[in-house]
Amino acid sequence: MNRIRNIVILTGAGISAESGIDTFRDGGGLWEKHRVEDVATPEAFARDPNLVLRFYDMRREAIQQKEPNAAHVALAELDARWPGDLLIVTQNVDDLHERAGARRVLHMHGEHLNAWCTACDARSRWTGPLIDRPECPRCGGRALRPDIVWFGEMPYRMGEIYGALRGADLFVSIGTSGAVYPAAGFVRDARELGARTLELNLERSQGSGWFHETRLGPAGEIVPAWVEELLGGAGDPPPL
Ligand code: OAD
Repeated sequence: MNRIRNIVILTGAGISAESGIDTFRDGGGLWEKHRVEDVATPEAFARDPNLVLRFYDMRREAIQQKEPNAAHVALAELDARWPGDLLIVTQNVDDLHERAGARRVLHMHGEHLNAWCTACDARSRWTGPLIDRPECPRCGGRALRPDIVWFGEMPYRMGEIYGALRGADLFVSIGTSGAVYPAAGFVRDARELGARTLELNLERSQGSGWFHETRLGPAGEIVPAWVEELLGGAGDPPPL
């Protein structure tokens, strides 16, 4: 019998889609409306900082109007009740996992509600705009940028993520297209390290062949169903 103790969950834009936040690569997704090279690279920021700051100011404001959906709530419940190790690694830069109540969350691509001071390296919680070059609360300089990992930059906390993958019995990927590395490679790493792998998505992702099992449907339906199944034994991890 294959008992599960330690779980790593990777989430992507699809888990926030039912909260009304655009995904990146679906029809009408963000990267159809804006070119990555214009708004999501260090070069774009150096070339036209106002365009980039305005883009993220709009996104920062928009996500604060959104609410967690049933999938975020189900993962928060799992986090609260799961007795083993659990880590929600999210590629999302919204705070909907946290607002649903999840604690064990790692934002590998940064967070909209943080500003990063490139002068003193401090990160500060930030809910307002950056376009007017506000002062850094730590050093008083005016070199704040969105705390977002842009293309060409290194995702955050990779050592912690690989540490969790090494200990994982179960790796679950939710709402991500598997198009962006290194996150897209986690399923292969987890599987090679001995974890069971499960995909929960609206459609098959690019790395779908690496998963032992795929369940297709909207996250707001299939994530709560999976969590209920997992917690079925009142916190006693059942076999997968
Ligand atoms: P994508 O937009 O690439 O993929 C979203 C996935 O969610 C697709 O596979 C959809 O089929 C699926 N999906 C859409 N609606 C869903 C729903 N209601 N329920 C379940 N699944 C649904 O977004 P990500 O994979 O998160 O990086 O993109 C990865 C990274 O690329 C992002 O973090 C961002 C982006 O460029 C940076 O900005 C660094």
